[in-house]
Amino acid sequence: MLILGLNMFHADASAAIVEDGEVAFAIAEERLNRRKHFAGFPALAVKACLDAVGAKISDIDHVAVGQDSDANLAKKVQYALANPTRILNFIRLRQRKESMRDVRSLLAKAFEVDPPQLRFQEHHLEHHIAHIASAYYCSPWEKAAGFSYDGSGDFVSTMMARCEGNNVEVLDRVFLPHSLGSVYTMICEFIGYTKYGDEGKVMGLAPYGKDSYCDVISKIVTPKNSGFQLDLSYFKPLGSNSGMQILPDGTVHLARHFSDRMEALFGEPRQPHAEITQRDMDLAFALQHRFEEIVFHLLNHLHRQVPCDELAMAGGCALNSVANGKLFDRTPFRSTYIQPAAGDEGLAIGAALHTYHSVLQQPRRHELKNSYLGREFSDSCIESSLKKARLDYRKLERAPLLEAVAEQIAAGNVIGWFQGRTEWGPRALGNRSILAHPGLPNMKDILNARIKHREWFRPFAPSILADYQHEYFEHDHPSPFMLHVYKIRPEKRKLLCAVNHVDDTGRLQTVTREENPMYYDLIAAFHRQTGIPVILNTSFNENEPIVCTPEEAIDCFQRTRMDVLAIGPFLVAKSKGENRVP
Ligand SMILES: [Fe+2]
Repeated sequence: MLILGLNMFHADASAAIVEDGEVAFAIAEERLNRRKHFAGFPALAVKACLDAVGAKISDIDHVAVGQDSDANLAKKVQYALANPTRILNFIRLRQRKESMRDVRSLLAKAFEVDPPQLRFQEHHLEHHIAHIASAYYCSPWEKAAGFSYDGSGDFVSTMMARCEGNNVEVLDRVFLPHSLGSVYTMICEFIGYTKYGDEGKVMGLAPYGKDSYCDVISKIVTPKNSGFQLDLSYFKPLGSNSGMQILPDGTVHLARHFSDRMEALFGEPRQPHAEITQRDMDLAFALQHRFEEIVFHLLNHLHRQVPCDELAMAGGCALNSVANGKLFDRTPFRSTYIQPAAGDEGLAIGAALHTYHSVLQQPRRHELKNSYLGREFSDSCIESSLKKARLDYRKLERAPLLEAVAEQIAAGNVIGWFQGRTEWGPRALGNRSILAHPGLPNMKDILNARIKHREWFRPFAPSILADYQHEYFEHDHPSPFMLHVYKIRPEKRKLLCAVNHVDDTGRLQTVTREENPMYYDLIAAFHRQTGIPVILNTSFNENEPIVCTPEEAIDCFQRTRMDVLAIGPFLVAKSKGENRVP
């Protein structure tokens, strides 16, 4: 049985294919069309799904979409009637959503077939149920608390659920306009981070701030019974503008969220690219602080309703790895399964698995143990790309390749590392990564000057052999998808200075041999050579979606000042002269 899952006409459009209950392939459209956070129809991703399982679109049995415009309709109507000046925007939004419900026509058009040839049944699933399903059905558990939170989806910002056996039972929803994601986005915009997806940058800025605004920011969002509420006077009214707009070319555009009250309180908003002031850092600090207080209030309430150790979590806010890292100290939960694609691309997997288990009542058998669900390329394909680019390369056996790459990292060089299948979700986890020495004091500056050109305050992340986590970090809970930030032990901070953030933390990826043998063995080789079981790991890109194909990797390698490219079994080095600062 083939089930195609889709996230479409929504940020991070994606497709996933579930074959007899196993996720066989999943990819975000941005990796294929090279347009970050693309929010149109994921035609290339669907094609890649079909190619991966050798199927035609007419072979698909079910199509599941992680969005249901009929969900929570009563709440939407209630809000619109209470705010008559904003009804027009709601009607426009609904018309747009109606036009994308016709999945059959969209797929028939994309694959140039007659609609009657498509025999699939169509399923639409509420946004946050799809988020929770994406985590729970990929977890190893038969029972868990389910939690999802983001800006909004189907008029809801937060959902709590009891997950048991095949079913996800919704216990509670927080409806718009109350949204923790909107609070985060609003303050990000105020301090000059105005693009969709900038929230992670502000999370990195927060530890540079002080607690000067915590009292004020805490008034913007307050706990209320099992949920929370916003003081709406700090926000532009919901429906007063177009909110998050999808432009005709699939670009996501954010309208201004903050009201004049923010300016009256804090002065002029920071313009993008202007200097970051202490005020901006303090606002980031207060925002992260309050965000954590509210989310732990919600999770503690959820635990009272579903008293178990296991928490399955997704939604864009579940990418807040700083909050995730504190969860074990601030709530009774003892294990997390956070979907590696916690943001909206993950809806494709959630909708497909929910159809299989909850709608069709097929037994649970799938556990998603790694995020390597995307495209891979044969050695011959990689070699022909190298030849086409006229690069000198050596082909090595596995063991000598790992030793040579580890030596290069130990010598302080920057490596492009391209192996196996692309990662699912926003993190590079050792298949499309740029790797470097975690213990060289100038490595962060080198990476930023030569390749990444990121904001000065953003940390780089460590990948660590899971067996050594307890020696280097103050927490033992695994972080296989780089979604937890933990304190680095005091005696190891100097050794990991290039990945030690200003507050002595690291957003680690714990690597086991079972999840990624090639990457594990590379870190083990580096460990043998240096005594450090950790490698600095950042995504293989330069202000673009993470590279997918060999050609894109080679282009990024040539365009930037990486030293070495390890692509499949091939090793390519630049001559030293090529990397000299002009
Ligand atoms: Fe979402």
